Amino acid sequence: MQATASAQRHHLFSSLTSNSLPFPRTHARPRRSPATSIRMALREDGPSVAVVGVTGAVGQEFLSVLSDREFPYRSIKMLASRRSAGKHIAFEDRDYVVEELTAESFDGVDVALFSAGGSISKELGPAAVERGVVVVDNSSAFRMDPEVPLVIPEVNPEAMAHIRLKGRSGKGALIANPNCSTIICLMAVTPLHRHAKVVRMVVSTYQAASGAGAAAMEELELQTREVLDGKQPTCKIFKQQYAFNLFSHNAPVLANGYNEEEMKLVKETRKIWNDMDVKVTATCIRVPVMRAHAESVNLQFEKPVDEDTARQILKGAAGVVVIDDRTSNLFPTPLEVSNKDDVAVGRIRQDLSQDGNLGLDIFVCGDQIRKGAALNAVQIAEMLL
Ligand SMILES: NC(=O)c1ccc[n+]([C@@H]2O[C@H](COP(=O)([O-])OP(=O)(O)OC[C@H]3O[C@@H](n4cnc5c(N)ncnc54)[C@H](OP(=O)(O)O)[C@@H]3O)[C@@H](O)[C@H]2O)c1
Repeated sequence: MQATASAQRHHLFSSLTSNSLPFPRTHARPRRSPATSIRMALREDGPSVAVVGVTGAVGQEFLSVLSDREFPYRSIKMLASRRSAGKHIAFEDRDYVVEELTAESFDGVDVALFSAGGSISKELGPAAVERGVVVVDNSSAFRMDPEVPLVIPEVNPEAMAHIRLKGRSGKGALIANPNCSTIICLMAVTPLHRHAKVVRMVVSTYQAASGAGAAAMEELELQTREVLDGKQPTCKIFKQQYAFNLFSHNAPVLANGYNEEEMKLVKETRKIWNDMDVKVTATCIRVPVMRAHAESVNLQFEKPVDEDTARQILKGAAGVVVIDDRTSNLFPTPLEVSNKDDVAVGRIRQDLSQDGNLGLDIFVCGDQIRKGAALNAVQIAEMLL
């Protein structure tokens, strides 16, 4: 189990080659043969790409997803903070040097994938747009801006239909990637919503360390070792002991008693579904899982939907896999969905507390660095090609 957790964390850093990194670079995801990847992805007619925050948890996953999906690119810039400038990154058999992010970094870039935090997005996202770049932003900086589409490609691709790359007679623009818990939830719930219209949704999350970045994963591993060794756990990223514990999500708590992570689920669902009436409530919890979030979702529908119909709808939904084996008591787990693209759904059952087949309970797991962040953003970039 410990080895598996390490593998999940180390996978994030498989392409970095600086010897100043905190942990070994093993357990790389199996890749296509280099010859295939270079022929397919590095192409003169592809866009010029910038990866902002390339040394982070999401940034490293961007590279993995770009390569796995053979995203065509003419050139690629690796951007991070001054701390990382000069580090080397191996990507598709080439060596790249990480550059310090500045506004000038975006000269000549067509599409930028941002994952360096909200303040960097606010500061440099508009500077990139001014230079004609289409920015796909992973932070919460622009998600609720009415001018900025908030997109899950399987759910609301139409929201970004007006945006084109400058090489394709477009101009600079911002597109926001939703919060990871929102993406995972709506991947599973939207197909049911289309069938019977969700009027109320109650979400309880079980969120992994990776959602808080590379340093949080490192802290969970360190604390686990410390507690097993009978030592006092080191608490730097989170205020409380994380190993062998769980706690309310570390996002700031607002005046209404909800934390910001919970309110993202409420507000982003309404924006993505373009439905200001849907009622959403959420409780977000950090659990000592290395990678991939789980969510329990209770649904109330306008029209009846029985559990067999729901199961069939979910089996046919893009990006969703059903794991719902009642006989063997086998349902989705974070470990099983780690490093996978699909969101897994199980525990599909009628909510006994609601009459007339108007309620369902489901349990959803998804890799929030992949579909909850990097994969979703790369899918958005693919829609621009
Ligand atoms: N982790 C997730 O599951 C997830 C999911 C959805 C969205 N997001 C969002 O994605 C963003 C990054 O998250 P993460 O988990 O990847 O965090 P992380 O592992 O801590 O990585 C942060 C990245 O940002 C870079 N950075 C920090 N300050 C910078 C600066 N002043 N200039 C340029 N680059 C800077 C870091 O570069 P250095 O290495 O040089 O410091 C690093 O590459 C956050 O906005 C987060 O909310 C994360």
